[in-house]
Amino acid sequence: MEKTLIKLENVWKIYDLGKVKVEALRGINITIKKGEFVAVMGPSGSGKSTCVHLIGCLDRPTKGSIYLDKSDISKLTRSQLSSIRGKKIGFVFQQFNLMNTLTVLENVTLPMMFYDVLPSVRKKRAEKILEEMGLGHRLSHYPTEISGGEKQRVAVARSLANDPEIIVADEPTGNLDSKKGKEIMDILDNLHKSGKTIVLVTHDKVLANYAERVIYIKDGANVDAL
Ligand SMILES: Nc1ncnc2c1ncn2[C@@H]1O[C@H](COP(=O)(O)OP(=O)(O)OP(=O)(O)O)[C@@H](O)[C@H]1O
Ligand SMILES: [Mg+2]
Repeated sequence: MEKTLIKLENVWKIYDLGKVKVEALRGINITIKKGEFVAVMGPSGSGKSTCVHLIGCLDRPTKGSIYLDKSDISKLTRSQLSSIRGKKIGFVFQQFNLMNTLTVLENVTLPMMFYDVLPSVRKKRAEKILEEMGLGHRLSHYPTEISGGEKQRVAVARSLANDPEIIVADEPTGNLDSKKGKEIMDILDNLHKSGKTIVLVTHDKVLANYAERVIYIKDGANVDAL
């Protein structure tokens, strides 16, 4: 039996905006096994990004427990979370979020800077990942000098910099045409086949078909279907 890698137990996220409090997640429960490929679907504003930000150690829940590899991360400080994120999680955003002042190669080496990796090793490793993404000819370009599809492939390469166990992708094809989107999905599919655990947020039923299982969220809570 495959082991549980990610578990959210009765997780709440309440954004406190002073006068108003937004209950983005209202007691959500999710279990994801090691090596699984899951899609998260739900209407706009239902809490998908909030949920995967918690899974990706980008934020902390208001209530409830989140286990990564059996250890409860819900009460860790932001700096403890970022250290876990750097090692275990690769995050891919809809808006790419590349650093425009760094080259493609530098963007991919950046996450390795926080670890004890020799600069020469970092560079070789980043080059190898980028070549695997078909970007070997774009290493010294800046993000403003490449296409949207290429930007997202750089972002996927960056997410792989520290060889994370989990890839979290929040609508990674949302800003791409369907052909470029399919390229990204095929890369995620291959990463899944190589053993990575993939958590994909998508609005698109066709893309959700890449996943082995769909988790549906509505109004910050689990539902069986939309
Ligand atoms: N930083 C924040 N501060 C306050 N409210 C927030 C914040 N982020 C999200 N929200 C609110 O929390 C709710 C859930 O937002 P979330 O971004 O998780 O939805 P989503 O399902 O990802 O939507 P979309 O499909 O549009 O990306 C929404 O009501 C949103 O307005
Ligand atoms: Mg979102």
